[in-house]
Amino acid sequence: MYRRCRVCEGELREFVDLGRQPTANGFLRPEETDGEYFFRLAAGICTDCAMAQLLDEVPQERRYHGGYRYHASGSAGHRKHFEENALRLLETELTGPDPFIVEIGCNDGVMLSTIARAGVRHLGVEPSTNVAELARARGVDVLTEFFDERTAAGIRSRHGAADVVFGANTICHIAHAASLLRGVDALLAPGGVFVFEEPYLGTITERTAFDQIYDEHVFYFSVTSVRAMAERHGFELVDAERIPLHGGEIRYTLARPGARVPSHAVQELLAEERERGLSDPATLGRFRDRVERVRKDLVTLLRDLRAQGKRVVGYGAPGKSTTVTNYCGIGPDLVPFVCDSTPSKQGHLVPGSHLPVLPPEAFSDPYPDYALLFAWNHADEIMAKERAFRQGGGRWILYVPEVRIV
Ligand code: SAH
Ligand code: TYD
Ligand code: ZN
Repeated sequence: MYRRCRVCEGELREFVDLGRQPTANGFLRPEETDGEYFFRLAAGICTDCAMAQLLDEVPQERRYHGGYRYHASGSAGHRKHFEENALRLLETELTGPDPFIVEIGCNDGVMLSTIARAGVRHLGVEPSTNVAELARARGVDVLTEFFDERTAAGIRSRHGAADVVFGANTICHIAHAASLLRGVDALLAPGGVFVFEEPYLGTITERTAFDQIYDEHVFYFSVTSVRAMAERHGFELVDAERIPLHGGEIRYTLARPGARVPSHAVQELLAEERERGLSDPATLGRFRDRVERVRKDLVTLLRDLRAQGKRVVGYGAPGKSTTVTNYCGIGPDLVPFVCDSTPSKQGHLVPGSHLPVLPPEAFSDPYPDYALLFAWNHADEIMAKERAFRQGGGRWILYVPEVRIV
């Protein structure tokens, strides 16, 4: 267990304990449940630099491998977001004579495929070989390694300096923060930028989105903690922008000190975090109380519906569904199955809680009375697609920011 901050060695104060949990993407076959891996899912905050982080850690090789289940291109919303991201980088940063971009955690190429089509030099660094293959099939160049100092030095000597180092929903997964930032430092051109967009501690606490907490998310960034981390490694935080992905994230831009004029947004968000007391024990204590309340309300509702003879099924099997089902003790007795569009999750069980994952067609065969929306961050897309369910009298159950039926 970590007692010291991974960034600054400061003391960690625990603020939430979600109990014994498996790895969020460790979907398994019904015959594979013996000896399933569990760890204690608890997060703490550094009393020095305010970086929120997991206390116990799952080794990275157990999280990312040739059977990694998350496919970034799985939703139309994410495809559009990352295409726009790529186009923006092409217009604003990749404008020199022979620009070069490195993406840490390119997954199935959701972002870099647009860069590749534009004929711009790029390299994805992606240790999960199955999703890396999907990226290659889309014309993306991929190095199947974990990004760290050593990998970065190798890229620099083979390809030269990068104008942009990019990461999305990946930088918070990397426990070796110091090695990562030394690697970015070695790789980045003098005027280059390190851009990354990641789940926001402010959203998690404000919306009680505790299901964002799982083994892969080692860090829960805030503007305050990212700025401290950047400065410790010789970078300046020059921009911070709120974006809607995964319920509300922040896109951070780091540059070398003095290379860019910092935007007002950085100071504004820092002030907002101070005013809200984002890193204060009292704020985090209230978050923990609300998390317990959601558990109580959700379990009560599901038991009541079962007692009334209503059928409830789950919609979406994101990593988040592992946290919420294991924390609340929701098993197949309360939710007989979940449906999910990811082929590699179908025919498997949600880790720990063992809800069977079926293809989306199972949802309407016949429609249940209620659908528990685990993929709540895709609510608009899913509710539009499944309009007929509600028109036929079906109702959605949401649990973020609180338990309610819509
Ligand atoms: N960027 C995509 C995928 C995020 S999933 C998106 O935003 O949707 C996180 C990805 O990071 C996984 O594909 C995982 O294999 C990869 N990853 C984890 N640790 C890494 C590391 N040290 N270096 C590079 N990639 C890593
Ligand atoms: P997501 O919330 O993106 O990820 P995480 O694992 O980081 O929590 O995952 C959404 C899940 O929902 C993913 O497994 C695909 C699934 N899904 C559907 O089944 N149908 C849909 O229409 C959409 C948009 C997603
Ligand atoms: Zn710290």
